[in-house]
Amino acid sequence: MKFGKKLGGRVLFPVALGVAASVTGMALFSQGAAAATTPGSSNSSSTNSVTYGGTSGAGKAPITYLKLDPSTIALGKTLFVENCSSCHGDTAAGTSRAPNLQGLGAATIDFWISTGRMPLADPTVQATEKPSRFTRAQELAIDAYVSSLAPGGPAIPQVNLGAASLSAGQGLFSTNCAACHTITGVGDALAGGVYAPSLYPATTTQIAEAVRTGPGNMPRFGTGNLSTQQVADIVKYVKYLQHPNNAGGIGLGHVGPVTEGFVGILIGLGSLMIAGYWIGGRAR
Ligand code: HEC
Ligand code: HEC
Repeated sequence: MKFGKKLGGRVLFPVALGVAASVTGMALFSQGAAAATTPGSSNSSSTNSVTYGGTSGAGKAPITYLKLDPSTIALGKTLFVENCSSCHGDTAAGTSRAPNLQGLGAATIDFWISTGRMPLADPTVQATEKPSRFTRAQELAIDAYVSSLAPGGPAIPQVNLGAASLSAGQGLFSTNCAACHTITGVGDALAGGVYAPSLYPATTTQIAEAVRTGPGNMPRFGTGNLSTQQVADIVKYVKYLQHPNNAGGIGLGHVGPVTEGFVGILIGLGSLMIAGYWIGGRAR
């Protein structure tokens, strides 16, 4: 039949097009989901893979501490004089422009430089997380130099996620951290123009450092507030928030199958509508 043949040809092509578009969309999404890292796998290897003659974190302890290499102090001093002493002074004792760093401990120094907060460009605004200016070896050399000037303060923590509990971390995070960083860790504005930043870029070491050293307006959680095990549990939960159990991770707010289905429908229906218009236009 002439009519049937004509209609068949007209409908089949656009429908096939729509189906192809949907399938392509879905294939792209599932690739995105597969590429996302699952919790527990180490995505902080840049900090944790550094051995530096120190502890390896291979044992059962939830947190081990990095031993800094004294032979890097000279390099650290050079880097410090070039990048930091204009504000903090040659021996890190502080100036009118910036505070004394002596005795703060390697974890504090490491947090501020590895999160790119230091060196600071504008001392009048809250220092923000940005890519570090240094290699990991250079950061550790600066840590070694400043730590060599005066004893004290916490050492650089290395978290063993295998020895930490996700569910305990979730409870501890909601009571101790969510008020400022929100329950999803996305961050929020606090009073007085201060903000609690997003926790998504932080490495395991940086999270533990922030908890133990209390940067800026964040409270410091000492061993009396949170045990070493509890800090590791919290770190595990924050890492989980960064890659929530692959509910369908294509960055659509991590809402999972609902969002993906929605996008699938949008693309599917969208192409059907276009097909409809196309058929309609040709039929006239
Ligand atoms: C332009 C000036 C400036 C430069 C350069 C600078 N800092 Fe700072 N630094 C500051 C100021 C101001 C603060 C206090 C800011 C704050 O608390 O938000 C600060 C705070 C810090 C802190 C936190 C101190 C504390 O009590 O918690 C550390 C650690 C630090 N700086 C290390 C460094 C290192 C290491 C370098 C070089 C890589 C550096 N800074 C370069 C101005 C500077
Ligand atoms: C009273 C509010 C408050 C609470 C409670 C709090 N924080 Fe923070 N946190 C802050 C603020 C403010 C900063 C930014 C500090 C700065 O840059 O000056 C911060 C920074 C951080 C960072 C650094 C993120 C980056 O930009 O690299 C981490 C990680 C972090 N907090 C984790 C935690 C964890 C884990 C807890 C719970 C144990 C917690 N915080 C509890 C306010 C808070």
